Amino acid sequence: MTDPKLRVLISAEKIQERIRELGEKISADYPTGNLHMICILKGAIFFMTDLSRAMKRDVQIDFMGISTYGKGKTSSGEVKVTKDLDISLEGADVLIVEDIVDSGVTLNYLMHLLDQRKPRSIRIAALLDKPERRLRPVHVSYVGFEIPDKFVVGYGLDYAERYRNLDDVCVLEEPPV
Ligand code: IMP
Ligand code: MG
Repeated sequence: MTDPKLRVLISAEKIQERIRELGEKISADYPTGNLHMICILKGAIFFMTDLSRAMKRDVQIDFMGISTYGKGKTSSGEVKVTKDLDISLEGADVLIVEDIVDSGVTLNYLMHLLDQRKPRSIRIAALLDKPERRLRPVHVSYVGFEIPDKFVVGYGLDYAERYRNLDDVCVLEEPPV
């Protein structure tokens, strides 16, 4: 895609290399037990499909839809579940798979919500982390890349539902506010 507003921040090759490392690390951290990977729709879809295939063990996958009532670039702080899980989490090791941690509002809420479903453990894997932007505390066990406070798109991330299917993570220059 040639778009003058896009600048590659993390190439497809770098993303894939990092996901292979994460897959090996996470697999080694969970040698036994039922591991449930939960994809937060829609942004984490490509990360989920690649990370689950980089795992060296059997996993279950499930999907959850969350809306944070933000249009454009910021989330407002109100979180709503738009699609719930199909599989029970009781007694399972849960790995939440998210595209990016920004304010931390979404994941802070989700950790509390899923904790009530009696999993054996819960951890978070996020492809990207913008630590400068944090408003709520969130412990992210597996981070692909820390990035500066720039608005990014591609590899699942969107701006107003566009650009998700880019192979690279790109900075979107001067997006309309
Ligand atoms: P948080 O609740 O502020 O941490 O927001 C997390 C959600 O906001 C992510 O799952 C993304 O959907 C969205 N988001 C945050 N930063 C970006 C970005 O730079 N590009 C695209 N979406 C983003
Ligand atoms: Mg998201």
